[in-house]
Amino acid sequence: MAKKKDENGPVDAHGDHRFPPPAEFKKAARVSDESIYERAAADPQAFWAGFAEELRWETPWKEVHTFDPPDAKWFIGGKLNACVNCVDRHIEGPHRNKAALIWEGEPGEKKTWTYFDLYREVNRFGNVLRKLGIKKGDRVAIYLPMMLESVAAMLACARVGAVHSVVFGGFSSESLRDRILDADAHLLITADGGFRRGKVLALKEAADAAVEGCACIENVLVIQRGIPGHECSMKEGRDHWYHDLADQVDAWCEPEVMDSEDPLFILYTSGTTGKPKGIVHTTGGYLTGTYATTRVVFDLKDDDVYWCTADIGWVTGHSYIVYGPLAAAATQIIYEGAPDAPDRGRFWRICERYGVTVFYTAPTAIRAFMKWGDDWPAGADLSRLRLLGSVGEPINPEAWLWYHEHIGSGRCPIVDTWWQTETGQILITPLPGVTVTKPGSAAKAFPGVDVEILSDEGEKIDGETGLLAIRGSWPAMTRGIWGDRQRFIETYWSKWEGIYFPGDGAKRDEDGFFWVIGRVDDVINVAGHRLGTAEVESALVEHASVAESAVVGIPHEIKGTAVAAFVTVREGFETGDELAGELKAHVAEKIGAIARPESIIFAADLPKTRSGKIMRRLLRDIAEGKALGDTTTLADPSVVESLKSQYDDEA
Ligand code: PRX
Repeated sequence: MAKKKDENGPVDAHGDHRFPPPAEFKKAARVSDESIYERAAADPQAFWAGFAEELRWETPWKEVHTFDPPDAKWFIGGKLNACVNCVDRHIEGPHRNKAALIWEGEPGEKKTWTYFDLYREVNRFGNVLRKLGIKKGDRVAIYLPMMLESVAAMLACARVGAVHSVVFGGFSSESLRDRILDADAHLLITADGGFRRGKVLALKEAADAAVEGCACIENVLVIQRGIPGHECSMKEGRDHWYHDLADQVDAWCEPEVMDSEDPLFILYTSGTTGKPKGIVHTTGGYLTGTYATTRVVFDLKDDDVYWCTADIGWVTGHSYIVYGPLAAAATQIIYEGAPDAPDRGRFWRICERYGVTVFYTAPTAIRAFMKWGDDWPAGADLSRLRLLGSVGEPINPEAWLWYHEHIGSGRCPIVDTWWQTETGQILITPLPGVTVTKPGSAAKAFPGVDVEILSDEGEKIDGETGLLAIRGSWPAMTRGIWGDRQRFIETYWSKWEGIYFPGDGAKRDEDGFFWVIGRVDDVINVAGHRLGTAEVESALVEHASVAESAVVGIPHEIKGTAVAAFVTVREGFETGDELAGELKAHVAEKIGAIARPESIIFAADLPKTRSGKIMRRLLRDIAEGKALGDTTTLADPSVVESLKSQYDDEA
């Protein structure tokens, strides 16, 4: 490794760099010295309560926190409403006509909602929900593209005390149906469609197919995106246009007073078994955790224009588009479509047009931008940017350096933020006005959060790869898996006594910086999206031709990890490109396009240990071409047999 150079400049591409916060940034930063860590460590409860006090509570809490692993409670006895905190709280002061959400449709339409517009909309929307019989505690499924109304739909649920379950619009109707059924949702909110790379997403059709098998759904509420020439059919008695009902309701919707520990939402995420799990988040702690981290990590000030490019279907959209930034009265950008529509300069033109100052995206996107070339960002005025963020997967130092230089012009700190659907809020991150960053490292635990590296047996590990472990609790931590207490305990709380196990491998270096390596379980991270290998396997075996399948993740230049599927076929089916294509399409249809395998490898049988466990490491090596120089066929059973002997240590 090259020798370290001075503190002020990029060094080499091996992660051996130091980037102190630029003096100008530091001078104006909300947090600019290390004392926040000491303050938080000395009294974490007072630290978090300080942020909670900036929110509006109808009834103050009696006790800040209790933790009886795995059960955490925050702001016990406190009553509040998340929608009121994100909207009503801001319209009484100078923010009433401040832009809350600036939207751009992929075809180019533009629309801005001020906080007062958002206030009016969530009131009407809340009343529409009530008109459809939705009351406190009911679950509402949301299957929408990136629209202003999507944010309003989530907040309206919070307003009336309903628990939203947002399902990413790219998921298939089958995935949507599974999630609706698991949550026992009574209402589905969808739209006539949306745009992605110039194509119309036929959301309503997918929603119709999903709802077919769901007796629990009483009504479907359809928001009109407005797509020229695209009609969607409405089922009498079940389907309602949002705009029709919104015209019939009152302008004021009384918010439900919620207990701090009442559920706010469920969000499904992939696990190690076939069935996605509904991660439950509650109200007071979640709002406090997302609000605090938004303020501190993104350093948001009143005049910032913040853009998080995530979709509201993922946790990043929940925590860092909807709840955190709106609780902080931010102005933010919402863009409907793809970064390369109509060309690869779209994101940068948006940054230029609205003067984006804080930009938060995923490494997979950054790697795509790198590949597309420096000219696209160079062609736009990005001089307003002052802070960049990354989330979703480890960012490789090359991508970090490119992001720093070509998007941030060398002057913007980068916050590489580690967290999960389950953690609700950022847990490991640099603080932009404090941390001397190293490309590829998410730096340190957020103040008040206790992270370490442990071995399987629970011994502390320093300087070597081990397992990420989080001690104690933090406000936005999940309170459980919807309807599955046992799985909650087994997944996160069984590795060590009373310590949260996130499922990631990581290392801590001599400066105490964390380097997250990735998942250590059967979850893969494809383009920043979590996918269970078992989910893809069960989709594959549903195809008539497939006898057995095993899915592994393999490195991919842009996606970070891609899906490789080993398949043994049933008698009478011909293996080859045609079937491989059919199986890829089948998985995309069953789960969604994000799960489409990059490669299908036909094998005569799957290598298993004597106890019957699939030898995934061997499969990964085969898929990457390491085990077999030229992997054209595994159809000869002896090939797999002879390879197995080299991998006996997996038994
Ligand atoms: O493996 C970690 C990876 O993404 C997983 C969480 O995925 P999900 O629940 O979908 O949430 C993604 C957005 C928060 C983690 O277990 N991950 C997330 N952020 C990072 C990361 N890996 C490395 N560095 C990160 N900054």
